Amino acid sequence: MNIKSATFVKGVTNIDPSLADGVPQIAFIGRSNVGKSSVINTLANQKGLAKTSSFPGRTQQINLFLINKSFYLVDLPGYGFAQVSKEKRSQIEELINWYFFESNCDLKKVILIIDAKIGPTKDDMEMLFSLEAHEKNIIIVANKVDKIKKPDYDKQLGKIRAMVGIHKVIPYSAEKKIGVGELADEMLK
Ligand code: GTP
Ligand code: MG
Repeated sequence: MNIKSATFVKGVTNIDPSLADGVPQIAFIGRSNVGKSSVINTLANQKGLAKTSSFPGRTQQINLFLINKSFYLVDLPGYGFAQVSKEKRSQIEELINWYFFESNCDLKKVILIIDAKIGPTKDDMEMLFSLEAHEKNIIIVANKVDKIKKPDYDKQLGKIRAMVGIHKVIPYSAEKKIGVGELADEMLK
């Protein structure tokens, strides 16, 4: 994918019908701190496009980035972050569920990002199953492969592939820029 332009369009914190504006969308979801915003920046080849942080809970709204004036990369808040209030957590969960299952946006692909070293968590599997139940096109990105020790790599990737079933798994590192070309190709298929 040749990125000629990438611009922030808007952030949505609440149900907003204007999100379904007919522009095709590719959404990035996963646990807080797994690297959703970082992956978007590597794809767009712009370091500060989506805000990242070492502290979980950085992204708290649905952020739309317009790529090549033709489609959106959608940066979602993360799930499973225990250090925010119960109220805030359920508000974010509702926002995510509304986006995926009720917003009527033109969602082409969902990129479910998991931590390659930790593997799919219970929350990740729940998200995967509900996306499957709604027949979304899913790609699994196993981010932070740079954290896996070399001798553990094959076994760990095998475990992830076995857990997620039929979906394509792309080993990735936003830090070391591993897998960027493969993900760019797959998500636009
Ligand atoms: P929330 O917005 O809080 O849900 O987080 P996020 O999923 O958007 O994560 P973000 O991109 O902000 O990254 C979280 C932290 O992980 C940052 O400190 C990143 O530098 C780090 N990180 C992201 N990708 C990688 C990677 O491939 N390898 C390593 N080692 N660290 C990474
Ligand atoms: Mg983020």
